[in-house]
Amino acid sequence: MGGVTAALPANTFSGRLLGWYDRQGRSFVFRGTKDPYRVWLSEIMLQQTRTESVVPYYERFLRRFPDVQALAAADEEEVLRCWQGLGYYSRARNLHRAARQITREYGGAFPRTAEALRALPGVGPYTAAAVASIAFGEPVPAMDGNLIRVFARVTDERGDAGSPAVLRRLTDAARGLMPPDRPGDYNQALMDLGATVCTPGTPDCAACPVREYCLARRAGDPEALPVLPRKRPPKPIALNVLVILHDQRVYMRQRREALLKGMYVFALSESAPDEALAVLGFRDASIGYAGETRHVFTHRVWEMRLWTARVPGVPPALAGDFYTLAQLESLPIPTAMRAALILAQKELSP
Ligand code: ADE
Repeated sequence: MGGVTAALPANTFSGRLLGWYDRQGRSFVFRGTKDPYRVWLSEIMLQQTRTESVVPYYERFLRRFPDVQALAAADEEEVLRCWQGLGYYSRARNLHRAARQITREYGGAFPRTAEALRALPGVGPYTAAAVASIAFGEPVPAMDGNLIRVFARVTDERGDAGSPAVLRRLTDAARGLMPPDRPGDYNQALMDLGATVCTPGTPDCAACPVREYCLARRAGDPEALPVLPRKRPPKPIALNVLVILHDQRVYMRQRREALLKGMYVFALSESAPDEALAVLGFRDASIGYAGETRHVFTHRVWEMRLWTARVPGVPPALAGDFYTLAQLESLPIPTAMRAALILAQKELSP
């Protein structure tokens, strides 16, 4: 924050907004810098993840990978392990690929415009605009859910905010009101406004620094906006999770499927446990039921039944491996496996 408030007359949209931001914007560890690596990292972590959850991950990640060179030099499994628990692991894999691209193609210097940033893996229009405005001062609006909501209300936009035409109108409105000297602060002020005042439920219009400019407030129903496309509920998938035990080790396999790609999971199957074991080549297992759990992804819910399976031997050419209790510590294992992991740790504990 800080900046050139004096240059902004109080009687403009951005003047009011930034005056409010300077007085009561939120302070976060990731806001204390314009280092593009740090801004980029925080923006990737903040996608689909609440700010409070991000902070400890952000700090730990920076201790382990303090700059883009350190990240590029790491191996993917280590990056995934640092991301373990944050979810949406393709973000971590793309971050790592992008770091390699930046060191290889740009000699370690970040691209400085939203347009150039968008060429990096995992960087969409929102992230490109956030990084370009915060780190490099480019006047581009970062249209996350908060800005979409704020400008749908300010402009009384009644069209479907999921449509490209409406998003373009909202982006134009945001750009039109943007102050040339503090674009990063403007974007972050709007994020804060959306998170604390212009909230999805009932907005606190009395506390809003730009209420005089808000057409939906004048219309009397700001809470009805934005109009959003209807979301499909995630599809339930019934899965058996087999904690396969042999010789004080447990079976895990690294996923190649798009969902949780690169992460380690126990044996997962939609088939019955005995069939699932047979498919992997295990024979004469002793199987025990151990309870159920679920994990919600964006488009899927895994409804999981947990089983232990003690096996007398390991088939040749098995896809996956057996790991000791200590080795489990160093594998990237997703939160979806939490209950099964606790079960495995209990079974492997002396
Ligand atoms: N969410 C995404 N980016 C953010 C930022 N820079 N500040 C606060 N919340 C955010």
